[in-house]
Amino acid sequence: MSTLEQKPAALKTGDNQTVPALEAAGISKTFRSKRSRLQVLDDVTLTVGKGEFVSILGPSGSGKSTLFHIIGGLVKPDAGSISMNGADVTGQQGHISYMPQQPALFPWRTIEDNVLLSQEVQGKVDREARENARRWLGKVGLGGFEKNHPHTLSGGMQQRAAFLRALLSPQELMCLDEPFSALDALTRSDMQRWLLDIWEESRRSVLFITHNIEEALLLSSRIYVFSSRPAAVLHEIDVPFQRPRREDIIEHPDFIRLRRELSGWLREEQLKMQGAT
Ligand SMILES: Nc1ncnc2c1ncn2[C@@H]1O[C@H](COP(=O)(O)OP(=O)(O)OP(=O)(O)O)[C@@H](O)[C@H]1O
Ligand SMILES: [Mg+2]
Repeated sequence: MSTLEQKPAALKTGDNQTVPALEAAGISKTFRSKRSRLQVLDDVTLTVGKGEFVSILGPSGSGKSTLFHIIGGLVKPDAGSISMNGADVTGQQGHISYMPQQPALFPWRTIEDNVLLSQEVQGKVDREARENARRWLGKVGLGGFEKNHPHTLSGGMQQRAAFLRALLSPQELMCLDEPFSALDALTRSDMQRWLLDIWEESRRSVLFITHNIEEALLLSSRIYVFSSRPAAVLHEIDVPFQRPRREDIIEHPDFIRLRRELSGWLREEQLKMQGAT
């Protein structure tokens, strides 16, 4: 089919094997306390190819953010491993650019200094980096708020600042956990457009959690659909639209078919979760 896009460029090693930017292999996790145990992830395996944009869709409470915590080395899995570019990084921090679900801005730093945090940790804040951050703050509607502290910003503005921090972090893999959930429809659509444009230009590797099916179809090359808790990979779909993508793909018959299919799967899993609680 002519609209089918090419598979992402993969990194080739000397022995000619394809090495993904990220591989989560056989990840299982159960949270235990004295009185209870809750299995959250059940043998989850997924990959993000180098320069690929991959999304995860799954019911609320299924274990998506927990998987990100494991990828980022904040939580230890009971089983399985995390590899980046072929190297085992299970339990290690600092390898990914990460935007958590709750925008974790440091309250004592200004917005500009929050945005520059990851570059600062890596010793890379010079005048050019600061000018770049200011330019971006203006672009996402935060011009004039550079010297504000986070508590003086709305939830949506904080989310945009946290998104910028992830975007400007130097690590190759970006893990974004529902980055646009607190934004109104118009701002969300602007942010999606920016992310799409930047990604199409820079081809960073992205793993993206969202509840929004249209957003996943618009942005991603592949989508993993997670089951209800404990989360397992239920479906993996290729999104067959050429890039650069335009907003009018939402009228494409394949888009409409995929949207219907995905929303049917998600509704089914959501009902299972509600039945279980
Ligand atoms: N540190 C923890 N200790 C105990 N239970 C936890 C911990 N972190 C998460 N959980 C539980 O694990 C389950 C999955 O949580 P998680 O945040 O991964 O879900 P999610 O898929 O990201 O949901 P949402 O879409 O609502 O963000 C939830 O029932 C949550 O209560
Ligand atoms: Mg979550």
